[in-house]
Order: sequence, then C-alpha cells, then structure tokens
Amino acid sequence: MVRGVLVSRLSSSYGAFLAASSSLAPLSNGKHCPLSLPSSFKVESHFGSLWSLSHLSTGSTMCKAYFSKKALEASEVVDIDWDGLGFGLVQTDFMYIMQSSSDGTFNKGELLPFGPIQLNPSAAVLNYGQGLFEGLKAYRKEDGSILLFRPEENALRMIAGAERICMPAPTVEQFVDAVKQTVLANKRWIPPTGKGSLYIRPLLVGSGPVLSLVPASEYIFMIYVSPVGNYFKEGLAPINLIVEKEFHRATPGGTGGIKTIGNYASVLKAQKVAKEKGYSDVLYLDSVHKKYLEEVSSCNVFVVKDNVISTPAAKGTILPGITRKSIIDVARSKGYQVEERLVSVEELLDADEVFCSGTAVVISPVGSITYLGKRIDYGNKGVGVVSQELYSSLTSLQMGLVQDTMGWTVQLK
Ligand code: COI
Repeated sequence: MVRGVLVSRLSSSYGAFLAASSSLAPLSNGKHCPLSLPSSFKVESHFGSLWSLSHLSTGSTMCKAYFSKKALEASEVVDIDWDGLGFGLVQTDFMYIMQSSSDGTFNKGELLPFGPIQLNPSAAVLNYGQGLFEGLKAYRKEDGSILLFRPEENALRMIAGAERICMPAPTVEQFVDAVKQTVLANKRWIPPTGKGSLYIRPLLVGSGPVLSLVPASEYIFMIYVSPVGNYFKEGLAPINLIVEKEFHRATPGGTGGIKTIGNYASVLKAQKVAKEKGYSDVLYLDSVHKKYLEEVSSCNVFVVKDNVISTPAAKGTILPGITRKSIIDVARSKGYQVEERLVSVEELLDADEVFCSGTAVVISPVGSITYLGKRIDYGNKGVGVVSQELYSSLTSLQMGLVQDTMGWTVQLK
C-alpha cells in the first residue's frame, strides 16, 4: 500500500515557513528538515519541499510535504526540449494518491513525489484487471493561466466504468479537485503555449488482495501527468491504417464502452503486427458481422462524405470519447450533419475524408486505409478540409485562443 501523510498548504510563503519553523531535525548533509518528526522516523532524502521519511523499526517509508500554495504553483517552466516532445512518459514532480476506506468511500487524498507505489501481488488489478484509466489535458495560455478541458466528463466516465466493474469511484468533485491539485503542483511541466500540453492520467485500481474472483476490498485512485506533443510519429500528417479482420477490440456485452485497462492490452498484438508492416495503427471491425467500423486502437473514428460526418454510435462496444462528443457538437454548430450509427466498412471506399479523435490524438487525419489488400487514399496526402476545420476549431477552444462559447474549459488561476 502507498503510505503517506497529508500535504500541508501554508498561507505564508515557503521561505517564511522555513524561517518560522521551530522544530528542525538534523540531516547528515547539514540541511534541516522543517518537520516535527516523531523520534521513530528518520529523514531519507528531500526534494525541494518534499521530505521522504522512513520508520526506524518497520523500515516503511512515508513522504511528508510542506510547501505553500505559492511554492506549489511555482511559475517557472522546466528546461527541456519542448520541440522534441512526443507521446512518451516524461516524469514530473508530483502524483496524487487517494485511497478508499473500508466502506468504499474515498477520503482526502494527497500529493506525493512521483515514484513507484507498492501493491500487494494479489491486488485485484494485477490479477484480474480490475482497473480503469482516464486521459485529459491541461494547456498553458499566453497569459500564463492554465486551461483544463471538460474534466467533469472524465469524472463521470470513470464513475460509469467503475459501476461496470464493481468498483467505488471518487465523486465528480473529488476527481476534478484532484486533477486541479496535480496540475498546479506540476505546473512547471506544462509546455509553453503551442508546444504541446500536459497529459493527465487518472487511474482507479483494485488494490485490495484477492485470490478468488471477487471485487477488491480496497481501491486506489491516483493521478500522474506528463508533458506531451503529438501522439502519432507522423505528427499532424495523415496516418495510414489497416482494417483488422481477425482480432476484435470489443464484443457486445463486454467492456468496450468503458475505459478499462484490459481493452488496451487486447489490441497490442494487432497493433504490433500492423506497425511491423509499416502502418500507423489498426482500424477494428465489429465482432459479430465483421463489417461495421468500431475504433482505432486508441481513438474513435469519423467518416466524412459531402456535408455528412458519420461515426459509430457509442453503444456498448464503442468508447464514448470526450473528444468524440466535443467534435460532434462543434461540427453540428458549424452546420454539418452528424450521424451516430452503424458505419459499414464499405463506406470507406467512397468517403471524402476519414479522421480519428481522442484526447491523446486530438484529431488525426487519415491518409490511407488498407482493407482486404486494397489501399484507399484520402486527401491527396494532405489534411482534408473538414478535418482541418474541426481540428482548428477544437484546439483553439482547448488552448483558449477563442472565446469558449461552449463552456467546456476550466481555467486554473
Ligand atoms: C487517450 O486518448 O487519452 C487515451 O486514453 C488513449 C491512450 C491509449 C493514450
């Protein structure tokens, strides 16, 4: 289990707190820990205002953090190669952890230094995949403020997913508050405007020990973040997909419609084979008729024909993407007809454009799709007009470049 004590937020500045601190525990390197340490603890290390302690008799470690709101929201930006960002993990300073009580409710969580957590080998998530994840992003605006995009939608989707796999979940309020705290604590890792975003990854996992197949008795909700650039190595250039005939992402009655971790492990094989053949990713068909479009491995799919934009209806096997839902609303507001329905693979043959959507991929234009050995090309190797229009509208909103008439963004300070 993750052990820790609560993060204290002081109203004065950190410097003032240090000066005022009366209880200093000596450290071997001559520094002093501004904590009142019980005699059973010793200081292992410290990072800025975070102090890692270990219990002298049990050896168990805990972290205690003392920093002011001002220190937490430090405004400087880390010095990394922002132009070289892809979609890989860049470790940041803090993660957020909140554990369930025995009655299944979540109590006050805490910020801890980013790092490994301890799990019982028989934790339900490790043995039976009882876990969910979410994904959302924070953007840095020119004026230094930070924007989150529809965080309450992620909270609601986590609650729905948790119900499906018998887990308690944080409330919308707890979820959004935790996201805000984590983003502010890692503010210096939010890329400068136009260089990317801070990807936020909330996780909810069954941490309690099980052996028989039952829901866990304890759960951990945690959040970590990473600055990210484009998801596909192609950047914003069109990607090349192959339609998968054998493997399926989801089945009716299964868990395709929730963001459970197992859905993503199950696509790795087909994705690996596709990448080895030079494709960017895989487009899945439904498992019953093997004829209707489902999703790409990590994102939803849209097909454009004339003024009509079609996407598979989010019924059971399709993840109700928040970017998907936002695109539908933006497209309708621009006068497009949007249809959520069964979309036959045959429709790819005479589509004008195809694009993918997701938090990670945002909107990714599709340059070609290979189906039964035949390659269909779109957009003359460039980005389609509709994909470009929707990409510009959505990202301007997310980055705060235009007024948010939809009421979707949440501004942090
Ligand atoms: C996201 O788009 O946020 C996802 O969760 C997909 C993931 C595979 C990166």
